Amino acid sequence: MPLASVPRGPVEVPDAVRARVREPEAVWRNMLGGLTFRDADGGRYLKWNPAGVDASLAVERERLTWAARFHPVPEVLEYAADETGELLVTRALPGEGAATDRWLAAPRAAVRAIGEGLRALHDDLPVDACPFEWSAQARLDELATDARAAVGDPPPVERLVVCHGDACAPNTIIGSGGRWVGHVDLESLGTADRWADLAVASMSLDWNYGEGWEPEFFAAYGIASDADRIRYYRALWNAG
Ligand SMILES: Nc1ncnc2c1ncn2[C@@H]1O[C@H](COP(=O)(O)OP(=O)(O)O)[C@@H](O)[C@H]1O
Ligand SMILES: [Mg+2]
Repeated sequence: MPLASVPRGPVEVPDAVRARVREPEAVWRNMLGGLTFRDADGGRYLKWNPAGVDASLAVERERLTWAARFHPVPEVLEYAADETGELLVTRALPGEGAATDRWLAAPRAAVRAIGEGLRALHDDLPVDACPFEWSAQARLDELATDARAAVGDPPPVERLVVCHGDACAPNTIIGSGGRWVGHVDLESLGTADRWADLAVASMSLDWNYGEGWEPEFFAAYGIASDADRIRYYRALWNAG
């Protein structure tokens, strides 16, 4: 989810979460009303989406399970759904999201970890074995006609990889030493030009750390910035 944050006020704990955790700590609220809780004792995260939102934790579970063979992502412990919503319980990765207070206070380390982590994800996940697609064309097909026309035709693919699909800063998990330890939030994972992720990851640095971090990010990933592809994939993201 692009626009979201650590909840600052009280959060209503869904029954499905309360039934499983004695003292759930709310760690994240997304723009769809989805919530993520931590169970400090059990080393688990509980991600909950209310019924009716345009997001699927069943889809995320499928992608997490596939990606786990190749790259550090949370192990799925449980999935449950009822008329109130969906719940996905995962084992905690040994770190914190790059937009927690700890890493907002250390932006240079966080930006490097995001760049190096995204490079590792793209290098680790095998395109040929990936059953999921996140191509520009598939995403354009989901848009209304006028939005599709406004975004226009995609540039030629620079390198086809398995993209994260929501490479915003908070979805990189950083260990206490300041290196990336894994990725979360894989609902959209699939094959695409790596610029689909690079454009969004670099855009999200401004929201989280303020302006000026893109050179550090591209250096950490190991690529020169590509203004045309960045512009295209940001427009496609913002149209979606
Ligand atoms: N297994 C996990 N290990 C560590 N942190 C996690 C885990 N699952 C979720 N988180 C934390 O919770 C936040 C929200 O989870 P995420 O799946 O990204 O939800 P959303 O779709 O609402 O962005 C992440 O940014 C990360 O900080
Ligand atoms: Mg997220």
